[in-house]
Amino acid sequence: MQFSKSFIRQVADATDLVDLISDHGVTLKRAGSSYKGLCPFHSEKTPSFNVNPERGFFHCFGCSVSGDGIKFLMQYDRLSFSEAVEELAKRAGIPLEIQSGGPRSSNPEEDRGLHCLKEAAAFYSEKLSIPEGENAVKYLQQRQVPESMWKQFQIGMSPDEWQGTLNYLQKINISLAEMSRTGLIKVSEKSARHYDTFRGRLMFPVKDVRGRCIGFGARAMKPEDKPKYLNSPETSYYRKSQVLYGLHEGLTSIRKKRRLIFVEGYLDVIRLHENGFTEAVAPCGTALTQEHFKIALRYADTVILLFDGDSAGNNAALRHAHLLLPVALESYILTLPEGEDPDTFLLNNGKENFDAFLNQKVPALDYLVQQTIKKYPDSIQGRMQGLDELLPALYEIQDPKRRQLTLMTIGERMKIPPELLSKELKRKENKSLHKNKNNDKVSCLSENNKDSQDEQWLLQSLLRKGKLWPRVREHLKPEEFQTPNLRRLYEKLLQLPDAVFQAFDPFTLEKSDPDLFQSLMLLLSEEIPSHDFGLSLLRMKERNLEIEYQEWLLHSKSNEERAQAALKRRLEEKNLKEIKQIIDNILTQ
Ligand code: UTP
Ligand code: MN
Repeated sequence: MQFSKSFIRQVADATDLVDLISDHGVTLKRAGSSYKGLCPFHSEKTPSFNVNPERGFFHCFGCSVSGDGIKFLMQYDRLSFSEAVEELAKRAGIPLEIQSGGPRSSNPEEDRGLHCLKEAAAFYSEKLSIPEGENAVKYLQQRQVPESMWKQFQIGMSPDEWQGTLNYLQKINISLAEMSRTGLIKVSEKSARHYDTFRGRLMFPVKDVRGRCIGFGARAMKPEDKPKYLNSPETSYYRKSQVLYGLHEGLTSIRKKRRLIFVEGYLDVIRLHENGFTEAVAPCGTALTQEHFKIALRYADTVILLFDGDSAGNNAALRHAHLLLPVALESYILTLPEGEDPDTFLLNNGKENFDAFLNQKVPALDYLVQQTIKKYPDSIQGRMQGLDELLPALYEIQDPKRRQLTLMTIGERMKIPPELLSKELKRKENKSLHKNKNNDKVSCLSENNKDSQDEQWLLQSLLRKGKLWPRVREHLKPEEFQTPNLRRLYEKLLQLPDAVFQAFDPFTLEKSDPDLFQSLMLLLSEEIPSHDFGLSLLRMKERNLEIEYQEWLLHSKSNEERAQAALKRRLEEKNLKEIKQIIDNILTQ
């Protein structure tokens, strides 16, 4: 939609920037006539993000991002310009200008991928009102999901055909490339034909916080269909670590209650919402991570983690209690009676009983201590063993006050005499601080993900095993590193003569190339886990090949070209295995 300049100005003027930014989870403190806080656009420990409410302007001295309320929403919530204006108008209670223009779906600004996902969600949900969707309707009825919930969560069904979704989307002018970017279609390796990712499944659209469909969870309706749930692959729209199912649907009440109930599954979320617990959310096809808790921090002060009553659920509860320690949320853990999940518990016991059950929630820290104590004998010795297990998690708590308080609580609950506790802590702290420092340093060279981990290991052992150098240099190009810092490092290493490398001594570089020297020292100062060099190399190369292959496919215009791409990939794969063999042979010599 197009807005007039005066309307945009009116909306901007009516926006309280401090309110807007605070509502997005940024804690702002007054500093003179402006406000200060931690920048939401880059990670920092001291506040360099400034908001000037009078001039309606924010600016970060750390990362230089700046702008007004519209810009804030565009950057933070990935909104288009007009979506941001609309959102601000809504907040300020200003009615939108009526203009002649098409409906939303023909909005030229709308992202093509989001458009494709939105159309697919509508296509799937419409199936429930026609005979084709009969099975899905029966399934939902059998699971006692009321119709109001189908609507609210836009539940649907994907056609049980290889190209049902594809044909429909093509008919409404969505290209194959757009479909594959959203994960809705895949390419067959054998026939090189495109086919639907989701076939004959119950479809749960996953919405981002603004309600835009970004992916799907898809449940099999017959027990013999595997897997039980199929999820959209990671795409630029759908990042599993960044979404919580149910957050959009429950947003209004979540903002009011400032509380979230985390459950494990799609249907658990829906059942809780149905019974008035509209603050229920779930991760989508992945375990909860710190990233999910970061999202929680934006909307809630309290979180309750609800786990299924089976051994997997109990293990998960303990793991998550660890994970929650450093998070500045009031967090509670609750495991359901054996054999139940939130969905069945509510069906069997009703909402009053569920509410009463929620009251038995245990603070995450207490849960952690209780469960850890249980594992060891009830003696000072046993409790010290328990403490050993808990300490590593404690050092992840960045806020010193929070760390100290947590420590004291643990000591108290474990009945460890304070003098013993403080002695033990000093000893451990020295060790662990040392370790953390190194980790921090190394992590500024690499991002902490699996890909860069392989690259880092590879470099680290390459530096330690000089004899690998001639062969590795022959078979590994700098472009094969995806982590920019590590790639630069490898490039520099390549410039060294072979002879230097064979008996590599980084100290020879201290004078001649102080930067390279620094980086190498960081890598060498970290103890690396014993691992398989060849395997890291193989994984790196396989990952790159997969990226390349996807590119080839995208640019293939005919079936022949696609078949050729697949063939090229198979040949490359064989090549990679041979390279790994060469490396393995050197290592066993
Ligand atoms: P559960 O197996 O506990 O199933 O998986 P559920 O949620 O109780 O599902 P219903 O009630 O049988 O329908 C919990 C969550 O784990 C993910 C899904 O997100 C699911 O909701 N999951 C499970 C998968 O991603 N893939 C699977 O094959 C199974
Ligand atoms: Mn279930």
